[in-house]
This record gives sequence, C-alpha cells and structure tokens, in this order.
Amino acid sequence: MVIKSIGVIGCGQMGAGIAQVCGQSGVTTIVREVSQELLDKGMGSIQKALSKQADKGKITESEVEETLSRIAATTKLVDLGNCDLVVEAVTEDFETKRQIFQELGDICKGETIFASNTSSLSITQLMTTSDRPDRFLGLHFFNPVPVMKLVEVVKTFAVDADVYEAVIQFAESLGKTPVRCEDRTGFLVNRLLIPYLLDSVRALESGTGSMEDIDEAMKLGCGHPMGPFQLLDFIGLDTIYQIATIMYDEFRESRMSPPPLLRRMVYAGRMGRKSGIGFYDYRR
Ligand code: CAA
Repeated sequence: MVIKSIGVIGCGQMGAGIAQVCGQSGVTTIVREVSQELLDKGMGSIQKALSKQADKGKITESEVEETLSRIAATTKLVDLGNCDLVVEAVTEDFETKRQIFQELGDICKGETIFASNTSSLSITQLMTTSDRPDRFLGLHFFNPVPVMKLVEVVKTFAVDADVYEAVIQFAESLGKTPVRCEDRTGFLVNRLLIPYLLDSVRALESGTGSMEDIDEAMKLGCGHPMGPFQLLDFIGLDTIYQIATIMYDEFRESRMSPPPLLRRMVYAGRMGRKSGIGFYDYRR
C-alpha cells in the first residue's frame, strides 16, 4: 500500500503547508478550498514560500515550477475522488469536519485513506462520521509545516494495521519524523505543551515575572526557540483556548483549564500574531 496522491482539504496555514511539503516531496497533490478567493490566497502563500527558498538558493527555479505543477487547486470536493489519501485541515469545528467526511465517503474510491489534522478533536469521534473506520486516522502536522519535522500519527481501535503503517511510511517519505500515538485529547505534544503554556500565563498573572523575562528564561534556560508568550501568540490564543477547553473537559485537571487572563484576551479579540496583537503588539 503506497500513497502516491494526496488531497488536502483546506488551504489555510496548515493545509497550504501540508500541500507544499507533499508537492516538494514528489506527491501528486490536490488542495481544496471553499471559495476561489481563499484558494488563490492559499496557493499564493505556497508560491511565496517556494520563491523564498529559491531566493536563498535552497531550491532551483525549475524545482519551484515542478513543485507547483504537482499541486492542483480546486473548490470542488468531488475532484479528490481518486486520491490515495485525503487529509482534512479545516477549521476546528466538529460539524464542519463531519459534513466533509460524510461527503468524502460518497466521493472517494474505497481504498482512499482519510486523515484529520485536528489538534484537539477526538479522532475516534471523527471516525464515526466516515464510512471507513478501518481507513481513518489522525495525521497531525506542526506549524510552520515546512519547517517542523514532527508528525503525530494517531491510532484508533478501528484502524487497520497496514493502513496505519502505510501512513507512517508516507510521513517519512515527506522528510518528517512520525511518532505513534493513541487517540487521547492533545495526543503527545499538546498534552505536554498546553499545560506548560497555560502555566506561563498563570506565572504572569501571579506576578512571578514579566512576560519578556519569562520568554527569555525559557529560551536561554531551556534552549526553546521561542518563549511561551511568543509561542502563544504564534499558535493563536483562540486556538490555545479551544484546545485547553477540550482537554479540561476530558481530563478535569485544573492545569488544563484556561486561565482568566487568556479567556479575557480571547474575548477581546487579542488572538496573537494573526490579529496583530496578543501578548505582544505586532501592529508597529
Ligand atoms: N513558514 C515556512 N518557513 C518558515 C516559517 C514559516 N512560517 N517561519 C520560519 N521559516 C523558516 C525560515 O525561512 C528559515 O528557513 P532557512 O533556515 O531555510 O533560512 C527557518 O524557518 C528559520 O527561520 P528564522 O531564521 O526566520 O527564525 P527562527 O530561527 O526564529 O525560526 C521558527 C522560526 C521555525 C518558527 C522557530 O522560532 C520555532 O521553531 N518556533 C517554535 C515553533 C513551534 O513550536 N511550533 C509548534 C507549534 S504547536 C503546533 O503547531 C501544534 C498545535 O496543535 C497547536
């Protein structure tokens, strides 16, 4: 079972990154967005990222062209019917994903494997919305997808062992390092990362130190590429809030509950880099 073609649903930050990496690894790729405007924006970001690599001399102009020629773009789900693997990377809303997987069941060939790039929703629950639980798993990439080496490959009770191994091999063929994990909220990384980020907010709330000093401490003291507040802003405070809420709901551990400061910032629209302001101000 070798995966040679992929459909990516959603061409936002994650979907565009996944499509770019697949295209650059020689995989026949088709990416779908709901509107032509969003599709153009996503494809534009892929083009820009590839041109940047070419400007730095990391790839040649002809490699840029070859990669782009491997990535088709569509607004129609039906165009993904023949893909070996379809990865969903749309907004973290169960109902939206449910509708997509239900439609994909009618559209795709029987052998197509379905995967979700969700960071917080239950893969098992998503699996129940599809017609093929044995060919359904989690495939969780990290932001920025072209840079981050890790992919979490998430297992359910129902997934076929050969399907799971084929996806592990596929992740390796993209130059990623897959880790195997069970379907528990937060998987491996967010299980550890989210309480750490929430604790940083609590440390700030309780006056332990300034956010600049907390960031500096974790960068210089632990060798992290970003301090927790830089990372909170990078991931998006609304995303962190949502993941934390789902994790708290599952585990009922206070370290997973969103701190009041985070909640207030999300209510106020301070989502981090994407809204221009979060813990830091990016508008200047
Ligand atoms: N897209 C593509 N490439 C990017 C990029 C982006 N958004 N941002 C940076 N890069 C590339 C740069 O082009 C550069 O490439 P070269 O080495 O080829 O020149 C390289 O990454 C390093 O970038 P910079 O020198 O500009 O900056 P940096 O050294 O500070 O690295 C970073 C930037 C890679 C983002 C680094 O700060 C980092 O690793 N941060 C932590 C990111 C992280 O933890 N991500 C996971 C978030 S959790 C998640 O995604 C899952 C979830 O469910 C919430």
